[in-house]
Amino acid sequence: MGKTKLIIALDTPDLKTAAALLKKLKGLPLIYKVGSSLFTLAGPRAVDLVHECGGKVFLDLKFYDIPNTVRSAVESAERLGVYSVSLHLSGGARMLAAAASLKKRPLLWGITVLTSFDEEAFAGSGFVGGIEKNILRLAALGAENGADGIVCSPLEAAAVRNRFGKALKIITPGIRLVCGDDDQKRTLTPAGALSAGADMIVLGRPVLNAPDPVAIVREILGELDRAGVKS
Ligand code: C5P
Repeated sequence: MGKTKLIIALDTPDLKTAAALLKKLKGLPLIYKVGSSLFTLAGPRAVDLVHECGGKVFLDLKFYDIPNTVRSAVESAERLGVYSVSLHLSGGARMLAAAASLKKRPLLWGITVLTSFDEEAFAGSGFVGGIEKNILRLAALGAENGADGIVCSPLEAAAVRNRFGKALKIITPGIRLVCGDDDQKRTLTPAGALSAGADMIVLGRPVLNAPDPVAIVREILGELDRAGVKS
């Protein structure tokens, strides 16, 4: 197996459920995302739990604050030993540069436009210029100020790849196995996202809510292999 391409969002209701899932998935080539719901409840214990199971952590707390505070938060994340953290690219050049300036730090993955936005909701929130244009603008800001990767939907992965080549890793949530009707609005299948140019995909509910999460994960890893993208 090659590099890990699949990130599982540990959006579980509690630590016990997360531990049970980690036990089942142990040994599979996965990274685990600890986000605001589990971290708010369990704090660093959630990160430690993944580490105890031998996994790497993407700490998805989407930092957005003044430069000094974000820099300190990234420094704290480094102390937790996480592999990567997310921060909002719209926090601006000085915020990004402050985080990137740390000598030892996790990878910095910049949030562009949340995958729950469609064009109408995006415009309704006061943004102008459309989703893709804003993503490319934010990605450029990230590339210029030390971000290692960007988070966007799979629908914009090709445009980002074309513009930035290999300079930025592309991480895409908004992954669905079948067309769904939930809060994610800009979606593709796992293999579709990687074919479009994503380096890593993030999957939560389709795995967490499955009767057999291990079977679903194995199926996706198989799908990625069949599509010629080694997991
Ligand atoms: O359950 P689902 O597959 O939609 O989970 C996607 C995960 O990715 C969630 O934890 C969500 O917070 C996160 N995420 C996202 N869109 C972003 C960044 C992170 O959906 N732009």
